[in-house]
Amino acid sequence: MPLVVGKQILDKARREGYAVPSFNTNNLEITQAILETAEALRAPVFIQVSDGARKYAGMENLSNLVRDMASRVSVPVALHLDHGADYAMVLQALRAGFTSVMIDASHHPFEENVHKTKKCVEAAHAVGVSVEAELGRLQGIEDNIVVDAKDAFLTDPSEAVRFVEQTSIDYLAVAIGTSHGAYKGKGRPYIDHARLEQIARRVSIPLVLHGSSGVPAWLVEKMKATGADIGDPAGIHDEDVRRAIPQGIAKINIDTDLRLALTAGMREVVTRSPKEFDPRKIIGKGRDYLKQVVREKLELMGAAGRA
Ligand code: G3H
Ligand code: 13P
Ligand code: ZN
Repeated sequence: MPLVVGKQILDKARREGYAVPSFNTNNLEITQAILETAEALRAPVFIQVSDGARKYAGMENLSNLVRDMASRVSVPVALHLDHGADYAMVLQALRAGFTSVMIDASHHPFEENVHKTKKCVEAAHAVGVSVEAELGRLQGIEDNIVVDAKDAFLTDPSEAVRFVEQTSIDYLAVAIGTSHGAYKGKGRPYIDHARLEQIARRVSIPLVLHGSSGVPAWLVEKMKATGADIGDPAGIHDEDVRRAIPQGIAKINIDTDLRLALTAGMREVVTRSPKEFDPRKIIGKGRDYLKQVVREKLELMGAAGRA
């Protein structure tokens, strides 16, 4: 079916108490794994394009790829701009046919964040596209950081109310302890559920969780078994993700787990079959693992069976 506007997917998710994964894509195989698995599990899904993806593969290429492939599945798919840097980037995404955009001005002071976000909301809403913005900042949370300094980066619940009212955004990304990448804090990565409750009590639009990868043990094992030097990675525990959803999280961003899956599969073929040089065999194994990760996320978040 044609791409669906993000708000349509997420309002239903928050209302009915499940979350929709937003997977980062960079190429054909990641997009195939996401769409084939979402179709098989009857799940709505977001596919998002980061700045890095845009530079690697091209915004128009990825937009055309996702739109064309999504037109041949029967589940709702939104194409989303991940961490849009500025107004110009948002306009480029709108022009390229994205059905959801994020403006990330979270590193600016509150008033400036409001101002920049509002400008993007006006443009996106004029063409029927929904908008995500972020308040607070994702950080690598370290055990030895003093609470005051740590709190300074997390989303303030009363600021969140003012931010949503003043910007008219459609969904809000909150900073509640997660961070991007495969090394989420020292020791047990955490989600500040108490803070999330306070935000969700006062903000009724769908909430978005960034930095949500779980860094599954089975993928870490495969990486290490093929000689990858990745130290001691750590992700968000499944039980924390499960608990955050009835608390208002309706969109959950996943990139790192997909990177691990694709790379683990490729490494396996390259190291175990040194004679192999057909890239389809090498990347194909990565795609198999990608599908497994996508399946696990759709089931974990309760999105399976909702389309
Ligand atoms: O939000 C961060 C994502 O993991 C995307 O990262 O710009 O390197 O693709 P990237
Ligand atoms: P992860 O690095 O945990 O996969 O988070 C991705 C993300 O938040 C993209 O916006
Ligand atoms: Zn993010």
